[in-house]
Amino acid sequence: MDLMEYQAKELFAKHGVTTTLGTVVETAEDARKAAEEIGGVTVIKAQVKAGGRGKAGGVKLAKTPDEAFEHATNILNLTIKDLPVNRVLVTPATPPVEEYYFSFLLDRSNRQYLCIASVEGGVEIEEVAKTNPDAVKKIAIDPGKGVDAAKAREIATEAGFPEAVFEQAVTMIEKLYTVFVEEDATLVEVNPLARLADDKLEALDGKVSLDENASEVRHPEHEAFEIKEEADPLEAKAKEFGLNYVKLDGQVGICGNGAGLVMSTLDVVAYAGENHGGVKPANFLDIGGGANAQVMANSLDVILNDEQVKSVFVNVFGGITACDEVANGIKGALEILGDKATKPIVVRLDGNNVELGRQILTDLNHPLVTQVDTMDGAADKAAELANA
Ligand SMILES: Nc1ncnc2c1ncn2[C@@H]1O[C@H](COP(=O)(O)OP(=O)(O)OP(=O)(O)O)[C@@H](O)[C@H]1O
Ligand SMILES: [Mg+2]
Repeated sequence: MDLMEYQAKELFAKHGVTTTLGTVVETAEDARKAAEEIGGVTVIKAQVKAGGRGKAGGVKLAKTPDEAFEHATNILNLTIKDLPVNRVLVTPATPPVEEYYFSFLLDRSNRQYLCIASVEGGVEIEEVAKTNPDAVKKIAIDPGKGVDAAKAREIATEAGFPEAVFEQAVTMIEKLYTVFVEEDATLVEVNPLARLADDKLEALDGKVSLDENASEVRHPEHEAFEIKEEADPLEAKAKEFGLNYVKLDGQVGICGNGAGLVMSTLDVVAYAGENHGGVKPANFLDIGGGANAQVMANSLDVILNDEQVKSVFVNVFGGITACDEVANGIKGALEILGDKATKPIVVRLDGNNVELGRQILTDLNHPLVTQVDTMDGAADKAAELANA
């Protein structure tokens, strides 16, 4: 789960990282009031889960409460990278003298954590990484050892933090690591980590991604970060059902068992779609093991409610879940859904108890259901039906 800046800053504050929380508001009038209360020059910042807000006009200085109102009005009307801005953060203006970049992230391919730091931070960090990669330091972190004071010092030295802020940087690095580990984050990023006029270091921006696998059990409090009204309604529904679902942008609804099979189903459908008007997979949905009728009904319910979906491809390889259970699941799902099932469903069953499974669907003889025995053939059929 990605957090908004104001949420990231809440976690920073919780772990003692120097930052200013500011006030989050949803209307320009409230932005005016917040600016009044803060006093002096403020910054109005769009709260969306996208980078490059400043460049998109989503970060503005306001000298007066009236200006705060004006900027908030404009920013709340913005769409940044397809995301509507529904709230802004009003925070005191603290102009940076220097801007640094700092992050901890999970480096899956190397099975370790990685720290990325640069004293040439700010909004152009991507540019710095391209034109002057040596200025962006990458320091591997052994998750078993973590970051203690000595390691933090090593990181600060490698990054090249100037003497005037060096000790503060060491402390901040240790605390940011605490945020990373204790909150089970996969990313903690500060850009800019600002050096202010009085040589104080402060996190002026924050980006945090939390590991949702940890949230449920280890951090029930993280649920409060979910902004329900901004979640995709289908993804929210799938989440309620406990399904592993990701909405994509195509026309062929996909449902399979096992993440690997579903991933390759997406590929096969995208490939088949090239011969059928360029149709694409509409979603990722892994029903996991033990797909009973209810799980299948829930899955089809989510997929069929996607207006973009024109056909559905159910691709199951029976292992622990036998094909007859899946077939009964589809049968039961169609009974449960009744009139709500309106789109053609292509089913490919293989593996454990396949004969029995196929027989159940043959006997069912449902007008919406087509069986195809091979994965490629079924993908082609589903793509053809989506393009019909
Ligand atoms: N409180 C503040 N006071 C003064 N200037 C600020 C403040 N917050 C941000 N800025 C300036 O605005 C710039 C952009 O802000 P910020 O980093 O929050 O957004 P962004 O980088 O454009 O967004 P993103 O990090 O999502 O790409 C900062 O680099 C900094 O120069
Ligand atoms: Mg930033």
